[in-house]
Amino acid sequence: MTHPPYLHPGYRSTVLRAPSQDLLMPKLGPDSVELTSPVFGHQELGLRDHDLTVQHAGEPLGERIVVTGRVLDGAGRPVRGALVEVWQANASGRYHHLGDLHPAPLDPNFTGAGRCLTDGDGRYRFVTIKPGAYPWGNHHNAWRPAHIHFSVFGTAFTQRLVTQMYFPGDPLFAYDPIFQSIPDERDREKLVSRFDMDTTTPEWALGYQWDIVLDDTPMEA
Ligand SMILES: [Fe+2]
Repeated sequence: MTHPPYLHPGYRSTVLRAPSQDLLMPKLGPDSVELTSPVFGHQELGLRDHDLTVQHAGEPLGERIVVTGRVLDGAGRPVRGALVEVWQANASGRYHHLGDLHPAPLDPNFTGAGRCLTDGDGRYRFVTIKPGAYPWGNHHNAWRPAHIHFSVFGTAFTQRLVTQMYFPGDPLFAYDPIFQSIPDERDREKLVSRFDMDTTTPEWALGYQWDIVLDDTPMEA
């Protein structure tokens, strides 16, 4: 798998966050943790959890989009019933979070979090609005390309993969240390969704396709 390195000095917070000693987990093995840790049930999901545009009284501002794709294992087989969660900034590039001090407007009709289970074909589907770029203070004039954070759970809470999906043709790719922390251009491109006219819904929403391939899609540490 093509994980970016834990330490990527251009992405400043990794300097403090990256482990300075060898990880214990490869020595212990994950099995004992996974077999004794909590698991999630599938009965808790709400009917509207996958649609980030209907979670409030009114509709959020911004460009409505459909984001869909499949979760596949390394052999190309669908991963069924996986919990996929997303979180993102609003159309102005502002998170609904106390820690976000970007002076862009909050949207009272947009929280920016959603979840769904993959279906029998391994497919997830979200309806949302296109997130805006936002400044993040990593260095002078640092702006994140528009992105949606993704988490995929396995059968235990300890089996979790987290990554980010981007939008095609973003001019900020070349300037983003997080995106650029993935050394190989072909691996970076695995995080960029594909505009898809078949997913695009007439008079309603643009469509993007993005597959998550376990053991291939770059994931965060
Ligand atoms: Fe973000």
